[in-house]
Amino acid sequence: MKQNIDKNFWDSINKIKEKNDEYYKRTGKQKTSFIRTYGCQMNEHDSEKISWILELMGYKPTTEESEADFLIYNTCAIRENAELKVYGKVGSLKTIKEQNPNLKIAVCGCMMQLDEIRETIEKKHQHVDVIFGTHNIDKLPILFNKHLNEDRPIIDILEDNLDLVEGLNNNRESDYKAYVNIIFGCNNFCTYCVVPYTRGREISRKPDDILEEIKELAKNGYKEIMLLGQNVNSYGKTLNNDYSFTDLLTDINEIDGIERIRFMTSHPKDLSDELINAYGSLDKLSNHLHLPIQSGSNNVLKRMNRNYTREDYLEKIKKIREVKPDISITTDIMVGFPGETEEDFKDTVELIKEVEFDFVYNFIFSLREGTKAENMDNQLSYEVKHKRFEKLSSEINQIILKNNEKLIGKEIRVLVEELSKNDDNKMSGRTDDFKIVHFQGDESLIGKMVLVEITGAKTFSMEGKLI
Ligand code: SAH
Ligand code: SF4
Ligand code: F3S
Repeated sequence: MKQNIDKNFWDSINKIKEKNDEYYKRTGKQKTSFIRTYGCQMNEHDSEKISWILELMGYKPTTEESEADFLIYNTCAIRENAELKVYGKVGSLKTIKEQNPNLKIAVCGCMMQLDEIRETIEKKHQHVDVIFGTHNIDKLPILFNKHLNEDRPIIDILEDNLDLVEGLNNNRESDYKAYVNIIFGCNNFCTYCVVPYTRGREISRKPDDILEEIKELAKNGYKEIMLLGQNVNSYGKTLNNDYSFTDLLTDINEIDGIERIRFMTSHPKDLSDELINAYGSLDKLSNHLHLPIQSGSNNVLKRMNRNYTREDYLEKIKKIREVKPDISITTDIMVGFPGETEEDFKDTVELIKEVEFDFVYNFIFSLREGTKAENMDNQLSYEVKHKRFEKLSSEINQIILKNNEKLIGKEIRVLVEELSKNDDNKMSGRTDDFKIVHFQGDESLIGKMVLVEITGAKTFSMEGKLI
């Protein structure tokens, strides 16, 4: 497997570890770290890598933010409210750091890739000790060591992912389901979206590196793999051979021990017939496809630069349902894009009724600096956007409840994940079709694939009975 983490990585790790070991000998206390992660699965997985690095440096993870010696904030820039949460959080740390000057603070992730935001944090929040970005997680020990030596904030950002970093391990949150990166970055430049600026140009990992990682996970008892990328259907384009995303799925399907394969996210324009047909032949593919449509109006889709029409999308849904009639289909919708008319919005409402999605992640358009949509005419008022959001949400809730009710009486495979949050006697997990189900059971079931009969349906979860 390719290994190209920064050449000073281990040297810096050892230096920091030595200091922390010495502190332990002196005080009897082990230093602790806490990571708060905002945003998507990509960030969650990056945090699993950061957690591994922190442990190597001698920091034990804690769930108590207020007790940690090292705080890391892995940020998201997708919508304004994601950013506001981070500004609030980082601002509030100023007084905490004044009371405890030994506290270390690092801020990383997507927001840090955007110059203006990073500069605001640099200027206004000098209590932040280390700033790094999405392409240089392997630099954390080097930057932190430099901070310890020079006692000043250290900032390091790489503009792009020119050479993928291979060789970082993970402290994965779960012992039986694992995120695996397959493609980084995005070349689509949807006109509303910051991701191409925060995650750089699209680049695929080599199939051998991915397969080796998954074989190792299978050996360690992992049952479910979630392949990650901003646009997984585009996998392979930078590899200079004809190995496709479906080829990758076919190879993963062969790995003993892996029982379920998921992936996130698919772009409708790149969803090939080859992939659609794979749903008929690859037995480990989960019975679910997340396919964000964003809007049901061709006018809006065009201005979003999505490169498909409503008709193209519906045609793909038809094809996939021909291959797998009961597949669960989920989507993302954004209401209130600049210039969205009542007619455009109606098209979206009609489309969700027509497709009968199993779940819809509904968002309100948020204006992002540096995107094309920032300078578009006819930005909609807060009131109009919210009214449409509420209307769409209520339509969505009716549709997904109806879909969930259709599953009553069916037996579905569930990977048991945790104690149910609202009932101590129950366990919960996700079905093959990505729905949350609660059922009577005990903690010994965690990590097991079980069969559950669906006995009741709500909008956001289902009830079941272990078979
Ligand atoms: N790569 C994925 C999406 C990643 S972002 C894809 O193309 O589908 C997840 C979702 O956030 C998007 O699908 C979109 O619905 C929403 N989103 C992205 N930018 C947004 C913005 N500026 N305002 C509101 N929602 C946004
Ligand atoms: Fe953003 Fe579009 Fe890329 Fe998804 S495909 S990450 S929405 S630019
Ligand atoms: Fe947010 Fe970055 Fe993901 S902007 S949604 S954390 S890729």
